Amino acid sequence: MKKINSEIEIPNMLNELLAMEVGCGLRYRKHYFAANGIHSKSIAQEFLEHAEQEGNHAMQLATRISQLGGEPNFFSPRLMDFQMEMGEFKNVLEILKVDLAFEKDAVIAYREAINMVAQEDPTTRRVLERILEEEEGHVAEISTLLGQDDQSVLYLDPTTGEELDQPDRLIEGQSRAKANSHYSARI
Ligand SMILES: [Fe+2]
Ligand SMILES: [Fe+2]
Repeated sequence: MKKINSEIEIPNMLNELLAMEVGCGLRYRKHYFAANGIHSKSIAQEFLEHAEQEGNHAMQLATRISQLGGEPNFFSPRLMDFQMEMGEFKNVLEILKVDLAFEKDAVIAYREAINMVAQEDPTTRRVLERILEEEEGHVAEISTLLGQDDQSVLYLDPTTGEELDQPDRLIEGQSRAKANSHYSARI
């Protein structure tokens, strides 16, 4: 297994995840007001809770980046692209589908990050595992709201949305999360 440069690569990777989390928090806040506006108050409340949890994930990542001697970046330039991609929603179903796609990307991103630090940095791994557990919870909650039984996280082609049986084909000199993720494409 390729040895990583922990001092540089781990904080950089954590900052990628931090950008994703900041984007997630903003998205859920936007969706909170959107759902309230179309009179889906119970779902709006769910979005607000998720926004708070994503904010908490961001703080956990920032804390770990700082502990490793890095500088947490809460203002990734990719946030502007993310805002451009937000769009408008006509109904709560559309909102939930977008959230589910982002949450599944988050699960994939955390699984990859955990693999990356598995041997090198057990403390970071534990931080990431705790967050992953909550992201999997988000997938389950939104799937349930959408009435979907299947809560598995699949690898999807970033352009066609088709399921891939060989996710590795997406890895071309960068992590799959970076290549495939809705977050990385939009944040
Ligand atoms: Fe999160
Ligand atoms: Fe989440």
